Amino acid sequence: MTPILQRIGSQFCLEGKFESYEIIKNGNINMTYKVTYRKSDGALKSYIFQKINTHVFENPVAIMRNIDLVTTHIRNKCVDSPTLHFHHTKNRDNYFYDTDGSFWRVMNYIDSVTFNNCSDLTVVRNTGIAFGRFQMQLADFDGARLSETIPDFHNTKMRMDTLFADAVKDPVNRVREARAELAYIASVREKACELSEKFYHGEFPVRVTHNDTKCNNILFDRETKEPLMVIDLDTVMPGMSMYDFGDAARFIASTAEEDEKDLKKVSFDKEVFRALAEGYIGELKGHVMDTEITTLPLATFSITVELASRFLDDYITGDSYFKIDYPDHNLVRTRCQLHLAKSIMAQFGELCETIERLR
Ligand SMILES: Nc1ncnc2c1ncn2[C@@H]1O[C@H](COP(=O)(O)OP(=O)(O)O)[C@@H](O)[C@H]1O
Ligand SMILES: [Mg+2]
Repeated sequence: MTPILQRIGSQFCLEGKFESYEIIKNGNINMTYKVTYRKSDGALKSYIFQKINTHVFENPVAIMRNIDLVTTHIRNKCVDSPTLHFHHTKNRDNYFYDTDGSFWRVMNYIDSVTFNNCSDLTVVRNTGIAFGRFQMQLADFDGARLSETIPDFHNTKMRMDTLFADAVKDPVNRVREARAELAYIASVREKACELSEKFYHGEFPVRVTHNDTKCNNILFDRETKEPLMVIDLDTVMPGMSMYDFGDAARFIASTAEEDEKDLKKVSFDKEVFRALAEGYIGELKGHVMDTEITTLPLATFSITVELASRFLDDYITGDSYFKIDYPDHNLVRTRCQLHLAKSIMAQFGELCETIERLR
């Protein structure tokens, strides 16, 4: 790997000489390397080199343009704290296409830790702080300036229309296995689509959304465990702020994995929700519309049903999108997410009270 990284590094304006590298195994989409250079004064300086997965991200140049707009905006606000910065090539691009077609970018390395799962409520609260701060820093940025690199990503109504249209076609004869799941989704369809419908009618501002609000996309201080910054900006797009929170809550407050078969293990932990909301709202209060706070429980429910619909649509149409480990994996995922959605609904009043107390 050394000669490749040396060649990639030589395209960017970096200080010093290549010294060493290590692979960072944390992510699951791109290939990430920590690459260390030795400066002329002898000091070491590290960078993050990333080779973008262009099967997943088909338009990496538009992604880098989005990232550039967002990171520049944040950097101009946070002059005293570390921020993410992408280095430029000699052509002033913030990316480099290698001769084999692979797509590379280089950013500053931040000495930090990441957590893959956060059972600790302090880490959960800090996760809320990180995503709330991200939204706060971008509250005066018009999300419509960003390219919608995955069109209709969180158009819940469209996702559901697609699901029910595919269920009518039943192309691989699987609908009979999923009658109960389709019936449940049909029964909550209107509620789950409410926010996204209002958004498309202009009732909520077009924000910058991150769209992958997991705790392993936050860098934390090694010692204090305070959140330093949000990373992994490949899916920043125009959208609703509440869905980012909702997706973080869906993931972090679930008591089980996304594909748990034993539904007795799957529920929504309202204490985890509270800690996340406390961090998030504490940072964001006063910077967004009140309705972007009061609708957080509905956003959590909606995005959970939306994801279930996507899993179910993939199951019904023959598993072409999500990677599966066994034949009915997508049906298992659907059932798990719907079970979680029911758990959210069962506690809906309490979740709303929590938000009321925090706002
Ligand atoms: N600027 C950075 N400084 C330090 N570590 C980083 C930086 N960027 C990414 N990482 C580490 O690399 C991992 C993968 O990066 P990420 O951008 O999230 O890629 P993926 O899209 O593959 O998830 C992160 O979880 C984090 O541990
Ligand atoms: Mg990541």
